[in-house]
Amino acid sequence: MAKRMPKDRGLDNTLTIMKEGYEYIQNRTKKFNSNVFETRVLGGKQAVVISGKQAAELFYDNDKIERSGTLPPRVVKTLFGKGAIHTTTGKKHIDRKALFMSLMTDENLTYLRKLTRNYWFQNTQRMQLMDEVNVYKESIILLTKVGFRWAGIIETPENIEQHAMDMDKMIDSFGAIGSPYKGYREAKKARARVEDFLEEQIIKTRKGKIHPEPGSALYEFSHWEDMNGKPMDSRLCSVDLMNVIRPLVAINRFVAYGVLAMHEFPGERTRVARDDNDYAYKFVQEVRRYYPFVPFLPGKAAKNIEFDGYKIKKDTMIILDVFGTLHREDTFSEPERFNPYRFDNWDGSPFDLIPQGGGDYHTNHRCAGEWMTIIIMEETMKYFAQEINYDVPPQDFTVDRTKLPGRVKSGMIINNVRLNI
Ligand code: HEM
Repeated sequence: MAKRMPKDRGLDNTLTIMKEGYEYIQNRTKKFNSNVFETRVLGGKQAVVISGKQAAELFYDNDKIERSGTLPPRVVKTLFGKGAIHTTTGKKHIDRKALFMSLMTDENLTYLRKLTRNYWFQNTQRMQLMDEVNVYKESIILLTKVGFRWAGIIETPENIEQHAMDMDKMIDSFGAIGSPYKGYREAKKARARVEDFLEEQIIKTRKGKIHPEPGSALYEFSHWEDMNGKPMDSRLCSVDLMNVIRPLVAINRFVAYGVLAMHEFPGERTRVARDDNDYAYKFVQEVRRYYPFVPFLPGKAAKNIEFDGYKIKKDTMIILDVFGTLHREDTFSEPERFNPYRFDNWDGSPFDLIPQGGGDYHTNHRCAGEWMTIIIMEETMKYFAQEINYDVPPQDFTVDRTKLPGRVKSGMIINNVRLNI
């Protein structure tokens, strides 16, 4: 006889998810003592939540799990954009994903490392003159500058600030999974402004009015042809291009978390500064594992499947527990301890360290910018640990795990910034 799956009662638990945030799934997997349970979301739709390394293995099996058409429309309209690569499937997905991955050359990644380092250095004097620096806000503008420059996009400093704020609104719109979200309209307008600007850049590039370097994102996206030899529609192309810049800007949340970790956990800042045996890299991996960012990912069963002895019918919505998987004892021992040394012996599995999705970069929806994220974080953390000194005034360091998307409540304030010479 088939086992009966534990069930979270309720006609529609979307609001409960929004209320409990990152803790919703953990609370249930603990209560039911199960890696899997059933719930109802988004107007009462049946969904099966799966958690852990084996759950990630199943979720990234393209024969068993379908991803297209599973993201809430509100999130697509604000966060990812209409027609975004995240919503594609099969050959079309692999074709477009190859374009994103083609940007991740050694040359481009080394350039990104240098740009990140240089921009923080150039920014030092500004931070020295400020009464206090809100690391969250400071890095959002700085990362927008890095992102635009890296992508070959030229823009004035004032407009860059506007784009940075707009992209922050889009990222915050992740709160739009639940229906009553007051920032939804604002986020849509913000998206339209940045899409307009990027589309203009693409059209100018195609007409030869501006000349980004070959190999840069603007050049490659503008001139890319799909498997049928067709260029991308200019609006869709701007959506894709923004899916390089916007998530890069979102790294500001990890930056604030990293500066918080160096303050909160004794010895971390000194160890990052020394960087013995690639410590800064391990520290960044632990920041990505430990702090809340992506809570979960949606998909649906492409056929009748089985998980943990339970049968799941074709077309059932499947929710992969991302945050919980990073915080399970059977995935990472002592998960609530911030411990970068755990990555000394990590086997590099594509199914356990999944803050940016898992599986294969080319054939699954795993984040195209994971290496970029690690590089930007490494250089930024080394800058804060090695190149400057600063004080940390009293503030609210809370990271509220019930609020989506996660962030340090104060933004992470530092002051009295001085250059280490
Ligand atoms: C996909 C997280 C930075 C580009 C994803 C996914 C997650 C994620 C969870 C979806 C995985 C899935 O659906 O299975 C993050 C986080 C970031 C980050 C937390 C850091 C703050 C970046 C950067 C880029 C980027 C810097 C720049 C290239 C993308 C793209 C996709 C994606 C294009 C879609 C991939 C696909 O559909 O195949 N990211 N990401 N991300 N990310 Fe990131």
